[in-house]
Amino acid sequence: MNTKERLQKQLGRLPASLVTKAFRVAKKIPWVRDQIEREYQTMLTSMEAQMRPYSGEFAVFSRLPAAGRDRGEVLAEMAAMQERETSRWRDGYVSGAVYHGDRAHIDFLSQVYALHSQVNPLHSDLWPSAAKYEAEVIAMTASMLGADAASPGPDGADAVCGAVSSGGTESILLAIKSYRDRARAERGIRRPELIIPTTAHAAFEKAAHYFGIKLIKVPVGPDFKADLAATARAITEHTIALVGSAPSFPHGVIDPIEALAELARGNGLGMHVDACLGGFVLPWAERLGYKVPPFDFRVPGVTSLSADTHKYGYAAKGTSVVLYRGRALRRYQYFTTTEWPGGMYFSPTFAGSRPGALSAAAWAAMVAIGEQGYMDATRKILDAAALIRAGVAATPGLRVLGDPLWVIAFAAEEGLDIFRVMEAMSHRRWNLNGLHKPACVHLCVTLRHAEPGVAQRFLSDLRASVDEVRASPSEGGSIAPVYGMAATIPVRGVVSDVLERYMDLLYKA
Ligand SMILES: Cc1ncc(COP(=O)(O)O)c(C=O)c1O
Repeated sequence: MNTKERLQKQLGRLPASLVTKAFRVAKKIPWVRDQIEREYQTMLTSMEAQMRPYSGEFAVFSRLPAAGRDRGEVLAEMAAMQERETSRWRDGYVSGAVYHGDRAHIDFLSQVYALHSQVNPLHSDLWPSAAKYEAEVIAMTASMLGADAASPGPDGADAVCGAVSSGGTESILLAIKSYRDRARAERGIRRPELIIPTTAHAAFEKAAHYFGIKLIKVPVGPDFKADLAATARAITEHTIALVGSAPSFPHGVIDPIEALAELARGNGLGMHVDACLGGFVLPWAERLGYKVPPFDFRVPGVTSLSADTHKYGYAAKGTSVVLYRGRALRRYQYFTTTEWPGGMYFSPTFAGSRPGALSAAAWAAMVAIGEQGYMDATRKILDAAALIRAGVAATPGLRVLGDPLWVIAFAAEEGLDIFRVMEAMSHRRWNLNGLHKPACVHLCVTLRHAEPGVAQRFLSDLRASVDEVRASPSEGGSIAPVYGMAATIPVRGVVSDVLERYMDLLYKA
């Protein structure tokens, strides 16, 4: 163990709050701050080369070119970069990210985009087609997710309704903002609290951060599912909603939605189901005979749900659907103003102008694929995932976490560093997701992994990577220490600082 590792271990034994405070105080001393900043820069310089693979190869524009460039030249340059960036996901080396990826499907979506590139749903008078596409995307998604079983109430006010957003995060932000505003208006709650399992997506933390909501994170059980009793204990008079995932991003497990929703209903709370990953898979998995616990609007206490068209809905990147039980809740999402000199203004989601072409592409993807298409895709994905899950479980030294269907998280036995296995996989072109608490890695299986030979290649590369790490257990790498540090270091501020500087670098021309 070197000095740094020893120090990290010793720091790990101290109470986290004490170390964090000490770090905050130390950072106020100028020479300490400079020293820390230099350390950050050293770490980031080593990452910069990876972030800038094109430097020196293509022209860099930090100001407008004096005269416009030739369109053909611009396109050729962009195509050259795309060509290099495509093969990794096309050949199935990437976890999640591209969910369909067949050339003919992508070409179809691109044609739809090209037809609608000027369309802005903010101007529904100019483009009524955009409103039609969005209304139908919402209706089709709702119907797929149990809306038909929900009672519509008098004049349909309680029917499931929704909105098209820019992605899973925006759908979640919109739902949580709606709960906050409803709790304020109807229950007078000024200090709102949201209860989530620790495994819920980071978007909920973002929502709490943006909207001044206190986030209560409840640890999950050994099966990585939300802990019902602990959730019940966390409810206070300030609670606005409960959250469950179907399935969760880290371990791909489905929370006990039915029980959580009953708990929410009994306490007069909202219940959001994050089906961003599962919304377009689970309904078909159920029809295919897989054991899918109830998670959608067939469960009476479920009051909102997010499902991503741009994941397993196989649309182009940039759309998701947020659904609500009843128009009254959706209205808390809306924004209107009648005072603006710019005229009567209303907008249902966070953005003002929006890319109507993406809503059109979501609609086109859904109607071109249809029920049979989604069912076939789900069958292929779940077959590939079953093969991968069994192969991982059979790899000595690795163990699958939870009971996943297609997001397969796995950890390593004591003495085998899972992040070094991930790194060894990245040397074999694989791009997997590193997770912590506990330290593990996951592969989110998509249609790319259902292509012939891909699952088998993943498993043979995984076995080779495990063997390689076992053969040289003490060798360091570039990614492993960062994940290792994030998993152990109590000074979370250091990790946040590094992430902020990483984002600064992304914006550097
Ligand atoms: C379960 C879950 N919820 C929410 C999100 C956020 O979606 P997006 O990245 O589209 O904002 C993701 C993304 O992977 C997810 O897996």
